[in-house]
Amino acid sequence: MSHKILLIPGDGIGPEIVNEAQKVLDSVAKLNGGAIEYTYGLLGGCSIDATGVPLHEETLAKAQDSDAILLGAVGGPKWDNLEHSAKPEQGLLQIRSALELFSNLRPAILFPQLAEASSLKSEVVSGLDILIVRELTGGIYFGQPRGIHINDAGEREGFNTYRYCESEIKRIGRSAFEMARKRDNRLCSVDKANVLEATVLWREVMRSLTAEYPDVELTHMYVDNAAMQLVRDPKQFDVLVTGNMFGDILSDCAAMLTGSIGMLPSASLDKNGHGMYEPVHGTAPDIVGQGIANPLATILSVAMMLRYSLNEPTWADQIEVAVSSALDQGLRTADIYSAGTTKVSTPKMGAAVVSALSQ
Ligand code: IPM
Ligand code: MG
Repeated sequence: MSHKILLIPGDGIGPEIVNEAQKVLDSVAKLNGGAIEYTYGLLGGCSIDATGVPLHEETLAKAQDSDAILLGAVGGPKWDNLEHSAKPEQGLLQIRSALELFSNLRPAILFPQLAEASSLKSEVVSGLDILIVRELTGGIYFGQPRGIHINDAGEREGFNTYRYCESEIKRIGRSAFEMARKRDNRLCSVDKANVLEATVLWREVMRSLTAEYPDVELTHMYVDNAAMQLVRDPKQFDVLVTGNMFGDILSDCAAMLTGSIGMLPSASLDKNGHGMYEPVHGTAPDIVGQGIANPLATILSVAMMLRYSLNEPTWADQIEVAVSSALDQGLRTADIYSAGTTKVSTPKMGAAVVSALSQ
């Protein structure tokens, strides 16, 4: 079975980590007698440099024509001074929106080997396995009106709009309930319903979905409390569902529970399971070109891609076992290094996963 993958390495450390993930994908395909066909696309800063825009229609067409998309990261200091609407990050937001990738799955799983790398006590995080389901194509990220204008008092004023319609809340809600069903049947919906009307509706709609999912236990939590609970007792959660901005913030927070943001994969899916896969971390401009970035979040994103879009769950399991085996050997990139382990480069970590695959 051949799968057609669009690779978008992007900016910063993106090309370094996508390169390793590609080697792992090729190896797992070979191991199982499958084949991968690649196309390549530009997004973000490199796309601005080559085409003048952060998302060129050619990349979008390739994305629509592929079985799945693997993305590194976009953005960087080189493009920081561009006007807001021309920045690399806009390309990412545009591709998510154009492909209707409304359901963003961000699992935070602690590999037991990394309990010591977390900034939290190991008893607080050991065994951690939670899933954040973030709404990705609506909310304040996309709400109109937005902008910076001169207000009636003659002063500059910035404004954004936090809005969600019922159908948007329902579809992300259903995604999250379905995920909870495959796990421990517990879903916590995160909102700010004590202040924001948009999330009063969010809470109501989530509650109405319990009629369709009577087997899933639904609870609600305000976002400020959820941030606190994530660092106080993260294991109380199974699946969290929340809007675009809260999900952005909480998922970075959850990432650190696992030792390093360099370990966190993600999937962004449309209603048919077509999707884009990317590490949660960004372009890490401070370490670009040094060969020290952690490729594991991208490699684990490949595993998610195989499971959710390509229907190759066995290959996904094999990759996750291989990652665990590389960690068992004591191999660590700088971000997860601790005394008594062996510090390795980006390509060494990729090669260790590849070699563990065939063991
Ligand atoms: C993420 C990132 C993006 C977001 C940025 C780069 C636009 O932080 O994927 O979490 O805010 O969604
Ligand atoms: Mg983010």
